Amino acid sequence: PISVIIDTDPGQDDAVAIALAVASPDDFEILGLTIVAGNVPLALTVDNGRKVLELCGRPDIPVYAGADRPLLEALVTAEHVHGETGLNGIDLPEPTVPVAAGHAVDFIIETVMSRPEGTVTLCALGPLTNIAIALAREPRIAARIPRIVLMGGAMSEGGNITPAAEFNIYVDPQAAALVFAAGIPLVVLPLDVTHKAATTPARIERFRALPNRCGPAFAGLLDFAKRFDEEKYGTTGGPLHDPMTVAWMLRPEIFSGREVNIAIETASPLTRGMTVVDWWKVTDRPVNALFIRDLDDDAFYDLLVERFAALP
Ligand code: BDR
Ligand code: CA
Repeated sequence: PISVIIDTDPGQDDAVAIALAVASPDDFEILGLTIVAGNVPLALTVDNGRKVLELCGRPDIPVYAGADRPLLEALVTAEHVHGETGLNGIDLPEPTVPVAAGHAVDFIIETVMSRPEGTVTLCALGPLTNIAIALAREPRIAARIPRIVLMGGAMSEGGNITPAAEFNIYVDPQAAALVFAAGIPLVVLPLDVTHKAATTPARIERFRALPNRCGPAFAGLLDFAKRFDEEKYGTTGGPLHDPMTVAWMLRPEIFSGREVNIAIETASPLTRGMTVVDWWKVTDRPVNALFIRDLDDDAFYDLLVERFAALP
């Protein structure tokens, strides 16, 4: 199995991503969740991470609290999508397992430094603040991390928080710039791909029909999550961003993309957090990412439903 630390700001789609990883125990050893502020403030994202693990029957996975704000910018949140709690649409009991002792950044550094080189993959589902601080504090982790699989950015799709930027990169552009320049191989799941697999009612019904508690619970969450896009854009269903990172690790063959250089805009207020993707190799900047642009959307949902069937 892949040993993975999931860095996350749950968040509805984060919750689905965590559940997909938990539902795949033969494929992943989840070393811990490291939590960051993003969709909602840190106190809520920490609670949400614990609630999701308890729902999925894995309260033993440690949850570490991390950065409560971006490196330089004021925190921007996304209650307009995820609701006031970050997990609206699902009614979960208060978590019972305590937050793990220690800071998320220390956990990342200690885990990567103490395990064999090249064995700890990072899966990043929120602003990249925790990972950037870890890289700044202990630069030797860069050469030991085989890959960061992250949800963030956009190229031709345009932004979802400003015309130029996707939320995770926009919230902490300086952190993203550090991570994208660290020399660690990146796999980037941007809006260009996440907008190609809508949570249609028929797909949500497949979760609701599962004979366990998690299927119907996640169906409720997806019902809430799609409202924002349906009301604002008149779509049928909404995007399901973060689980694509986990799905890429499980089934890379259902995705396609290109190895490119991606640079992060940090200077201009107009285009703050823009991912500048050298798709046509018009610069000689080195490749730093596999930028995913397409997927087999039915295969993605088949994978999710098949794996969620194994949850409690
Ligand atoms: C990203 O922003 C958050 O709201 C989602 O959880 C996802 O990680 C999409 O732009
Ligand atoms: Ca997220």
